Amino acid sequence: MFVLFFLSTLLAIFLEPWNWSTREDNEMPQPPLRLIGKHELSLYDGEEDSKGLYLAILGQVFDVSKGRKHYGPGGGYHCFAGKDGSLAFVTGDFTDIGLTDDLSSLSPTQVVALYDWLAFYQKDYQPMGRLVGRFYTEGGQPTEALKAVEASLAEGQRLKAQDLAENQHFPACNSEWSAASEGRVWCSRKSGGVHREWVGVPRLLFSPGSSRSRCVCVEKPSTTGNPNLREYQGCPPEAESCPAGG
Ligand code: HEM
Repeated sequence: MFVLFFLSTLLAIFLEPWNWSTREDNEMPQPPLRLIGKHELSLYDGEEDSKGLYLAILGQVFDVSKGRKHYGPGGGYHCFAGKDGSLAFVTGDFTDIGLTDDLSSLSPTQVVALYDWLAFYQKDYQPMGRLVGRFYTEGGQPTEALKAVEASLAEGQRLKAQDLAENQHFPACNSEWSAASEGRVWCSRKSGGVHREWVGVPRLLFSPGSSRSRCVCVEKPSTTGNPNLREYQGCPPEAESCPAGG
């Protein structure tokens, strides 16, 4: 009997630290996500008699009470408290009209910028639930409006990747402007944020179907046959620097 007691005590002593470390390694239990109505969310605006300090973005609700200095009464971003003002994260229009979750006016690249904000809240703040309304149904399912925004996000990400690839292929020129002259554009081994082996020559790159153009550096020999590229007028084709006026 004594031996049994002794052995079980020994076992308990050995196992305890193991149990302990397992408990410590476990993540803190997260409260389950709730479905929150628009009215209920409005009660979390951080005012004196409020239930807390929440905001929603793309229908996802976060507890932002640790950012009270920003979102609490008197804070520069108090306007976001207790509501979903997703549009204003992109437009910077913090008026009642601007603070809306109607995102139909956003371009795909603006939707990408909005999702960057969502990622910020997911990283820094505690998720509390889904706002029932424009983006989530009463059952917590994504609405058609959310699916449309997600489709726009996918398009925005595609455009951004395309832009990035184009910028590697045709890096932007260096440029300088002065009141005295018409300014100058030039290429070097680092321009447009792209480090490279080649310097290149300045060319105007036109957006297809538009009269808008920008200066890009094209690797020599610059016989790309790209119909959207044009030489600077009055500048030798192989020059690495050109007057900006051309
Ligand atoms: C579309 C326009 C803008 C939006 C939507 C926006 C939004 C925000 C938000 C939500 C925060 C709080 C972030 C947090 O929870 O920690 C913040 C912080 C801040 N914003 Fe803005 N902002 C905008 C423009 C600007 C501009 C133009 C300036 C400066 C001229 C600025 C300066 C700051 C500063 C200094 C902080 C505080 C950073 C800190 O203390 O951690 N913001 N902004």
